[in-house]
Amino acid sequence: MRVIGLMSGTSHDAIDAAAADLTLDGDSLVLTPLGLVSETWSGELRAALTAALPPATTTMKDVCRLDTRVGQAFAAVAVRANRELCADRADLITSHGQTVHHWTENGRVHGTLQIGQPAWIAEATGCPVVSDLRTRDVAAGGQGAPLVSIVDVMWLRGRPGVPVALNLGGIANITVASGRREPVAFDTGPANALIDAAVRDLSDGRMDYDADGALAARGSVDAPLLRQLLDEPYYAEPPPKTTGKELFHLPYLRAALGGRGPLPPEDVVATVTQLTARTVADAVRSVQATEVIVSGGGTRNPTLMTMLRTALRGIPLRCSDELGLPSAAKEAYAFAVLGWLTVHGLAGTVPACTGARHPSILGSITPGSRGLRLPEPRERALFRLEISPR
Ligand SMILES: Nc1ncnc2c1ncn2[C@@H]1O[C@H](COP(=O)(O)OP(=O)(O)O)[C@@H](O)[C@H]1O
Ligand SMILES: [Mg+2]
Repeated sequence: MRVIGLMSGTSHDAIDAAAADLTLDGDSLVLTPLGLVSETWSGELRAALTAALPPATTTMKDVCRLDTRVGQAFAAVAVRANRELCADRADLITSHGQTVHHWTENGRVHGTLQIGQPAWIAEATGCPVVSDLRTRDVAAGGQGAPLVSIVDVMWLRGRPGVPVALNLGGIANITVASGRREPVAFDTGPANALIDAAVRDLSDGRMDYDADGALAARGSVDAPLLRQLLDEPYYAEPPPKTTGKELFHLPYLRAALGGRGPLPPEDVVATVTQLTARTVADAVRSVQATEVIVSGGGTRNPTLMTMLRTALRGIPLRCSDELGLPSAAKEAYAFAVLGWLTVHGLAGTVPACTGARHPSILGSITPGSRGLRLPEPRERALFRLEISPR
């Protein structure tokens, strides 16, 4: 089955579409990567989206417009991916949509909202679409995140020791995927969220991120600011736990900077980059990891990667590419797998990872142009995800 996974994370840098050929082999699911197409958000739509996000307030009219326009933008990328990667023969699309709110209170998730109407994607491609994957896990008492955890567990649990998958998007999340103990997954805190916020603010909007970690490399870590940021209670909370840009946004950083004299911009960027490295490494060490397999846009920031390597004190850090999953596309491939699980009647969650009462078959399904014909539900869960080279 050819499946396209559509993903845009909290960084809203781009809409990523990864296509995968997925085939069953006994109790294994074999994923052959077919490639990635990625489209940066139009400046205007991105601005409209970020203007509506917390801590800002918005109106239902704007939510309706954004839901429509994000759905259309996802549809355009899906059409491209289908044409360029699948010869127009994709069987299924999974769309994560764009998270606009993750409602957490006292460590519990009460709701989560991903927008981007799947009807536009089904209309433009003719393919059935699995969307809205997080809410079912929330309804089962879970955090609705990190949803990639089941894919990480299927992928890595055969490896020796305690492998940990790490994704450095806007937020950093890890999955402890050892086959010898109960898996765990949680958001460790910010990955790029505060770096991007600092760079955008300090450059008056001229820069969206710290390209190649150049600013952070020129700056020095400000120890008092780092200590204050590390005092954030989220880091000490026990897993399962999730967070987002509802917490780690520009006003949050400004509040931390508020009490101090002016700092050189590159020192602020160096400090928030070190904050990511420190909080990720602390989380990784707390689960006795023996290796870390990293993916996401943060892998393209060499300063962050160097700080992280140092903070990991000898725990090997490998890029997911080394294991066959291109790091820029890993989350999109993971969502392709989640949609595949759904249409095969298989659960897409590991309760120990999301904190849910039980595993759930995720998502809502929008029929394609030829109606909806689902495969016979599989009785038995799958144990392994194998990545096969093309
Ligand atoms: N060349 C680069 N140098 C430094 N940072 C980069 C580079 N490319 C991407 N990034 C960072 O990666 C982020 C996007 O990562 P991504 O994995 O797509 O996150 P998300 O899942 O939140 O969209 C950007 O916002 C930026 O901070
Ligand atoms: Mg992204």
